[in-house]
Amino acid sequence: MIKHPIGIFISGRGSNLKSIVDACKEKEYPAEVKVVFSNNKNAPGLSFAKENNLEAITLDYHKFKNTEEYEEKIISLLKPFDLELICLAGYMKILSKKLIGHYPNKIINIHPSLLPKYKGLNTHQRVLENNETKSGCTVHYVNHEMDGGKIILQREVEISAEDTETSVSKKVLKEEHIIYPEAIKLVLTK
Ligand code: GAR
Repeated sequence: MIKHPIGIFISGRGSNLKSIVDACKEKEYPAEVKVVFSNNKNAPGLSFAKENNLEAITLDYHKFKNTEEYEEKIISLLKPFDLELICLAGYMKILSKKLIGHYPNKIINIHPSLLPKYKGLNTHQRVLENNETKSGCTVHYVNHEMDGGKIILQREVEISAEDTETSVSKKVLKEEHIIYPEAIKLVLTK
């Protein structure tokens, strides 16, 4: 089994990072995490990366003049890893066409809603406000439109009247941890 080199971008907790790293430990899984990138040097997920001896790079956006220069630096730092896929996993910074153009059809993202519904932030809160009876998560390609790229995989969860933002988030996250490794496998083996 060829292990394709992938990179994971995080900004926070990193539970999706963990699910992907766990999947990569399987002999028959077609990917290996070569690098973890974060815009936030305090992201808790970086501790997980360190404990698992993963290469981790952090870069503070505020030290750059603009997004273009920031992403140029990211591109140069990632170059040695020859990444075939970049997986945004709770990476809370919108990418510009600089990075997207450098990795055409090679950047995917996970979003905690059933896209195209509930793009953007505070998805669970909006789902509850609208009395939805189901929500879920989506893995999709990243393009110029926020949360708008082609859908790769989705998974639904049921929402009941007793649900809170915390309980919905927990249910959805459980499904995220299943579909993200599956989606990566699909993309790399298609
Ligand atoms: C996940 O729920 C992911 O879907 C969401 O952030 C969380 C990150 O959790 N991503 C977005 O909202 C992107 N717009 P994690 O750091 O534990 O993987």
